[in-house]
Amino acid sequence: MRPTEVVYRARAFDTPDDSGFRYDDDLGLAVSSEGVITARGAFASVSADHPDATVIDLRSGILLPGLVDTHVHFPQVRVIGALGMPLLEWLERCALPEEQRLADAGYAAAIAGEFVASLIAAGTTTSLVFGSHFAPAVDALFTEASRFGLRVTSGLVVSDRMLPEPLLTTPERAHSEALDLASRWHGKDRARYAVTPRFSLSASDPILEACAAVMADVEGAFFTSHVNENPAEVATVAGQFPDRSGYVDTYDHHGLLGVRSVLAHNVHPQDSELAVLAHRRTAIAHCPSSNSALGSGLFRLREHAAAGVPVALGSDVGAGTGFSLFKEGLQAYFVQRLLGDDGLALTPAHLLHLATAAGAAALGLSDVIGTFDVGKEFDAICLRPPAGTALDIGLRHAGSPDEALGKVFALASDADVADVWVGGTQIASGGFLRALSPLRRG
Ligand code: GUN
Ligand code: ZN
Repeated sequence: MRPTEVVYRARAFDTPDDSGFRYDDDLGLAVSSEGVITARGAFASVSADHPDATVIDLRSGILLPGLVDTHVHFPQVRVIGALGMPLLEWLERCALPEEQRLADAGYAAAIAGEFVASLIAAGTTTSLVFGSHFAPAVDALFTEASRFGLRVTSGLVVSDRMLPEPLLTTPERAHSEALDLASRWHGKDRARYAVTPRFSLSASDPILEACAAVMADVEGAFFTSHVNENPAEVATVAGQFPDRSGYVDTYDHHGLLGVRSVLAHNVHPQDSELAVLAHRRTAIAHCPSSNSALGSGLFRLREHAAAGVPVALGSDVGAGTGFSLFKEGLQAYFVQRLLGDDGLALTPAHLLHLATAAGAAALGLSDVIGTFDVGKEFDAICLRPPAGTALDIGLRHAGSPDEALGKVFALASDADVADVWVGGTQIASGGFLRALSPLRRG
């Protein structure tokens, strides 16, 4: 038996599949000193099997797997909340001016600190992060994430047209800077590299080809970008790529789509594109608050599910209106309601699955995180709403676990995320962050 140091005693939900949740009101989870779950069962039996373990009683809160954000922009933490514009105007007026400021390494380090603290505060332990156009800023992100042991997959954002000049690069530079970053970060602790053209609108065929070369050079690298987000964007891309069958094909043509690819949005897909995504096993990051804030449209979850396209959740900060995946889950639910008969009726269990296990699957981490199964690492959050808040009252009076989980998605926010663990190590407690290593100022 592996050495076991801790048995967590908790009221816990998780979702091994998307058909329902598993709930235990007196669960025991034994976690080894390496942070791996070694036993799961009724607390009485797990604690009897581990008589020397320290018991940590979390039953005053609710334990959930760490949340997984499959699409969030590191340079945009300060531009959240700019409402009233469609995608291309928002990019020009809000996002891109801010992203140019990350050319300054000191500014980028400050943003990295704010961004990582915001992820942890929201209970997000794993994320696929849209990086910066500037390599030193991407280093700053990975450095800050590694101080907390967060699971971050990210990379250099590349573009060679249609953006302000300081954000542009060349295929040659995109290739060499990506390899350089990947050599420092890919596979280091929990970091992984993601090849990241911003979107086909700002990426010509030669730079997409350079992206494919990086994918070939970096074993196990991820690919991420945007697709079919907004009608004006889709029409522009169609004009730029007359020889492609659609937006998805602009990436697929270069062999960029596969099981380690995640595309954000896909609000306006063609049916044939859904078939390609399903065939490639490429996941879609559904970002409902962003889609509503930018007026991008209502996401056709039913069609994605019917076609067999994997879907997970993304906050899409800063077009999205915050880091909380509880809010994204609720917004995903709202959108399906608004679609009427065309919507997919989402239950609280579906929302938890989208925010945890589905994200883990999209990021190739199903064997490592996403549920509290034996053999997985203990990535977890404990919700403990302040006394007297609507969530506190609601949870105390919930008539069933299903009702309680519904209240979590309706009402939970960052303020309710009391404790956060990654790989068995607690990195936030009572709202305070605990880094694994000190901040170094260069
Ligand atoms: N498409 C290209 N860049 C972006 C971005 O920063 N946010 C969103 N939502 N869509 C994009
Ligand atoms: Zn985005």
